[in-house]
Amino acid sequence: MSGNTATCVPVKELSESHGCYSRLQELRKFYVKEFDEEPRFYVRVPGRVNIIGEHVDYCGYPVLPMAIEQSILLAVGYTRANNFLYLRNIDVNFDNYKCDLKSFRIDIPEKGGPEWYKYFLCGVKGIFENINEQDQGCIAMTVALSGNIPHGSGLSSSSALVSSATLATSFAYKASLDRKTLASISASCERYIGTQGGGMDQAIAFLAEAGCAQFIEFYPELKTSSIQLPENACFVVANSLAEINKAASSDFNERVVECRLSCRIIAKRMDFKNWKNMLRFAELQSSLNCHLNELETMASKILTKDIYSREDVLNELEISEDEFENDCLTPNTRKMSLFKLRQRALHVIQESLRVQIFRSTCESTMTWGKIDTLSKLMQQSHGSLKNLYECSHPDLDRLIDISEEAGVGARLTGAGWGGCIVALCDSVQSSNKYIELLKLKYYSKLSKVQQSNLENVIFATFPQNGAEILMAGSNDIPSKI
Ligand code: GLA
Repeated sequence: MSGNTATCVPVKELSESHGCYSRLQELRKFYVKEFDEEPRFYVRVPGRVNIIGEHVDYCGYPVLPMAIEQSILLAVGYTRANNFLYLRNIDVNFDNYKCDLKSFRIDIPEKGGPEWYKYFLCGVKGIFENINEQDQGCIAMTVALSGNIPHGSGLSSSSALVSSATLATSFAYKASLDRKTLASISASCERYIGTQGGGMDQAIAFLAEAGCAQFIEFYPELKTSSIQLPENACFVVANSLAEINKAASSDFNERVVECRLSCRIIAKRMDFKNWKNMLRFAELQSSLNCHLNELETMASKILTKDIYSREDVLNELEISEDEFENDCLTPNTRKMSLFKLRQRALHVIQESLRVQIFRSTCESTMTWGKIDTLSKLMQQSHGSLKNLYECSHPDLDRLIDISEEAGVGARLTGAGWGGCIVALCDSVQSSNKYIELLKLKYYSKLSKVQQSNLENVIFATFPQNGAEILMAGSNDIPSKI
């Protein structure tokens, strides 16, 4: 696999004007203290906020995220000493880790969620699977990490970590992989952690561009287009502080399973011979050659029950319990007995329609009312995530209610079940007012929050560039990887 330079991750010299310079300096010092040598290069991978298109990527439908300022930074060194990986986290709450790169395993604990370094190992494994064995050679990697993407907040801290590992490993091993390939590898290898994510987080991590959001398509293949947001649009991210760890519960995978089942049932009823392989609505829609509205009507007509039991699903699909467990469920959803197929399918289809309207509104020449239209779409998106997809949280809903009362369109962002909302304001001034309002009506009521330290909890955000490699001073600088 070789990279086309136009589509490769940029490799730059680290300069004092870099937005993360002081964090990188702090990380450098930490690295030198831990490993007694200078790092060879740094990696920056941003978190993201998804503006609209939630829980549709794993159904093959487009999403509209942008990269945020918060990121994972790595300082990396490598030598031909042995095959070991040495990992350090600048945050003392995370243990040191060491393993043999030739023989590590990623075992997922049944409870509590995976340890932090397992996300890193996913990235290493992803690259090893995609380069020749002789290229894997014998390299010891020393890595120090600094992250300021709030954990469990729906801003993609886990995927940024996996993607940073993919990028660092590919660079250390001189694998020339373009950004799309790195995004796809990162999306697939993150599934070793047990969640069946759709690829949005890794795609925006590598393909983001400063100043615009990205319209990311997954079907028939990964494709991004820059979307110019209205000039006066100002997005605010507010963390409900209800933490989520999607790898520690089965909620996320349950939704994926329900979507896949809905898709298979419709495909079977529509007499597709390959219905067993139809796992994504985008593929089904393309085979049906119909519009999203028609697919919506079809889903309502075919998926009539409010709740499907296991038996209902087995009868619909005419398969055995064994086949069902092996082909339709994941290890952490094996015990599922009730399925809300209609509600999940309708959310996915209607949300995808909203993404289309959001995009065309951004691209339209209308001179007034854009922000209103976009805000309404965001409000509808939240309503659907709360009621049809059931992935909100009472604290998130409270933030949304306060926003709505103030006339600000907002929605949960990321997987949900806690984490952040994203809100759309029509100017920097009104975003400041809105931030003050949330501080007063939401954050001042929370005893667990230090009121003076809210800048990473509620903030206005502007679209940033995607992942990059920064060369530490004296090293030779290859132009691209
Ligand atoms: C997580 C997943 C993404 C996407 C979102 C929900 O962030 O990693 O792939 O499914 O949830 O939109």
